[in-house]
Amino acid sequence: MADLPTLPEVPAHPDAGPLETALRNLLSVCCLSETVAVSLISAEFFELEGSTIGDVLKGILADEVRHSRLGWNLVAELMPQVDSAMRTRLNDYLRVALTHLRDHELSHLPPLRSPSSAAEQVGVCDGLAARALFQDTVRDVILPALRERGLSGDAAWKALTSDFTDSVDSNRCAVA
Ligand SMILES: [Fe+2]
Repeated sequence: MADLPTLPEVPAHPDAGPLETALRNLLSVCCLSETVAVSLISAEFFELEGSTIGDVLKGILADEVRHSRLGWNLVAELMPQVDSAMRTRLNDYLRVALTHLRDHELSHLPPLRSPSSAAEQVGVCDGLAARALFQDTVRDVILPALRERGLSGDAAWKALTSDFTDSVDSNRCAVA
């Protein structure tokens, strides 16, 4: 049990109408951030399964899966209402959202190995493996799911990751 803190408002996107605003927020929050959360927390859960922390992570993971599915399902449901001009603007917006995602995740995933096996037992993740898993998740899950819904973040992501792809390729995560 805990008090619910004051939550920040979701972005209002004053330059967009209600449908486009909803789609932008669904894409950024649910489809991008929550899908990455599912991958990263899954990896930590598999390492800690059976422990107290593993049980806590299992509950969090279930929530993250629901948050991600909500976004992907709603975007699929709403896309038939999107005309080609809005589709182009959403693809432009994906460049902004993917930039935010990359910057946010990299700032929280330092490129360092876990300091010790004792640290791993309490959930301190291997930053290099987590970065590789993050990149795999965008490339193998998020970008294809966007394409399935008639959107594209491929070119934006390729441009965004040209400088960090090489550094993670040699540290691929077994969990991925
Ligand atoms: Fe979530």
